[in-house]
Amino acid sequence: MNSLENLNIRTLRREDLDAIVRIDEKVLGENRKSYWEKKLELMNNRSSQISLVAEVEGSVVGFILGDVSGWEFGVPETIGWIDTIGVDPAYQKKGLARALAHELIKNLKVLGVKTIYTLVSWNDWDLLQFFHAMGFTRGDMINLELKI
Ligand SMILES: CC(C)(COP(=O)(O)OP(=O)(O)OC[C@H]1O[C@@H](n2cnc3c(N)ncnc32)[C@H](O)[C@@H]1OP(=O)(O)O)[C@@H](O)C(=O)NCCC(=O)NCCS
Repeated sequence: MNSLENLNIRTLRREDLDAIVRIDEKVLGENRKSYWEKKLELMNNRSSQISLVAEVEGSVVGFILGDVSGWEFGVPETIGWIDTIGVDPAYQKKGLARALAHELIKNLKVLGVKTIYTLVSWNDWDLLQFFHAMGFTRGDMINLELKI
C-alpha cells in the first residue's frame, strides 16, 4: 500500500499521547509514557500550534515536535527548533517524515523563522541521513557537556 495516498497531516493534540508513546516504544524498545506525558503537558502554546502528527487511515503513525524561540527576547532572528521526529517503523521509508518536516517548515516560515536548529546524536544514522536529505548541514554551534 502506498501510505501517502491516505496521509493526513494535522496539528498534534494532547489525545495523541498514547499513539506517540506507542511509536516511541516501537522505535526505541522502551515504554516512556511518563516522559511523554510530562513533555506534552509542558508544551507551550506556540509549540503545540506547530507540532504535527501524520495519520494514515485515521491512525497516528508519525509525529514531529517543533518550537520557536526569540520572540521573548526580541532578537532579530526568530529561531525554529525540531525537537523530536518519529515514524512508526511499519510506515518508514514512505516519505512520511519528509511530509511532516515540510509542513512544520511551512508553519515555521509563517512565524518568521529563518533558521531551524535540531540536535542529533552522532550515532543516530537514520536521523542524520534524514536531516541531510532535508538539506540540514552542520551549524556553527557546538554542544558542550559536563558530566556531574
Ligand atoms: C528518521 C525517520 C524519522 C525517517 O522517517 P521516514 O518516514 O522513514 O523518512 P522518509 O521516508 O520521509 O525519508 C525522507 C528521506 O530521508 C532519507 N532517509 C530517511 N531514513 C533513512 C535511512 N534510514 N537511511 C538513509 N536515508 C534515510 C532518505 O533520503 C529519504 O528520502 P528518499 O526516500 O527520497 O530516499 C525514522 O526513521 C524514525 O522515526 N527514526 C527514529 C527516530 C527517533 O529515534 N525518534 C525519537 C523516538 S520516536
